[in-house]
Amino acid sequence: MTEHQDVSLDWMSGDQDELRPPTDLRPEVPHPARMYDYYLGGKDNFPADREAAEKVLSLSPLVRISALANRSFLQRAVRRLAAEYGIRQFLDIGTGIPTAGNTHEIAQQVIPDAKVAYLDNDPIVLVHSRALLAGAGVGNASVVQADLRDPKAILDNPEVRKVIDLGEPVALLLFAVLHFIDDADDPWGIVRTLVDALPSGSFLAISHGTGDFSTPEAAAKGPAIYKSATAQLSMRPKAEVLRFFDGLELLEPGLVTAPTWHPDQPPADTDATTGIWAGVARKP
Ligand SMILES: C[S@@+](CC[C@H](N)C(=O)[O-])C[C@H]1O[C@@H](n2cnc3c(N)ncnc32)[C@H](O)[C@@H]1O
Repeated sequence: MTEHQDVSLDWMSGDQDELRPPTDLRPEVPHPARMYDYYLGGKDNFPADREAAEKVLSLSPLVRISALANRSFLQRAVRRLAAEYGIRQFLDIGTGIPTAGNTHEIAQQVIPDAKVAYLDNDPIVLVHSRALLAGAGVGNASVVQADLRDPKAILDNPEVRKVIDLGEPVALLLFAVLHFIDDADDPWGIVRTLVDALPSGSFLAISHGTGDFSTPEAAAKGPAIYKSATAQLSMRPKAEVLRFFDGLELLEPGLVTAPTWHPDQPPADTDATTGIWAGVARKP
């Protein structure tokens, strides 16, 4: 990827998108989506992203393990929601840059015409998401630039509503995104607004960074590095993450570290202390 790049989003569906101005990817500012791509071993990142990501990794090599564990949890949760609960619609907010095993790929292995609306506020995610739409089958996916801090706009977005029928159960996926929403923006209220709009039998799946397994000094250093990035990091303790599931029925095994949620693999030494809380709940 070049250092400075203006990318038109005119590939997106809908005539109105052809009129959008080119997107400034701000390569000089670290973006959480590109830092996460770097942790996962991806190539869609700039020097500023790599530099910030390396600073975080120098604090703890567990960050890369956590990123991989988070991605693996996403895939196990989506597979289980489709296979065990017959969920065929997924609202995936804070999508990230496409990588192997994206939501629609996993869901469509189980339900070939499963529908996914992908939303992210970072334009680079949209620039890289053409392949998501192409691979998902016509009408089965949309990729929308939207901010989780405005949940009503997400629910009303016509590109989302083309793909997601709010009259039928939906899995709301908030993987590794709520820790980019500051307390002042009331992330619990945002989740409630979204969940309230979904019918009974819908699901909420969350993964969330935590400092519960670090010393307070180490836990404060990660957010300090993200201060120069486009979104701030708010690690939260288990009790605060549990509050996102208020009024819902948490599935077994409850809110646990990401690698210990229905693992496919034998446990590793780091599993019980990987700094990502993970849980899936059903709306009664
Ligand atoms: C760590 S990545 C997670 C990607 C993917 N959900 C996963 O778990 O593999 C976080 C994503 O959340 C996005 N994000 C951060 N703040 C957001 C906001 N306010 N609204 C929408 N997306 C946001 C970032 O741009 C980034 O792509």
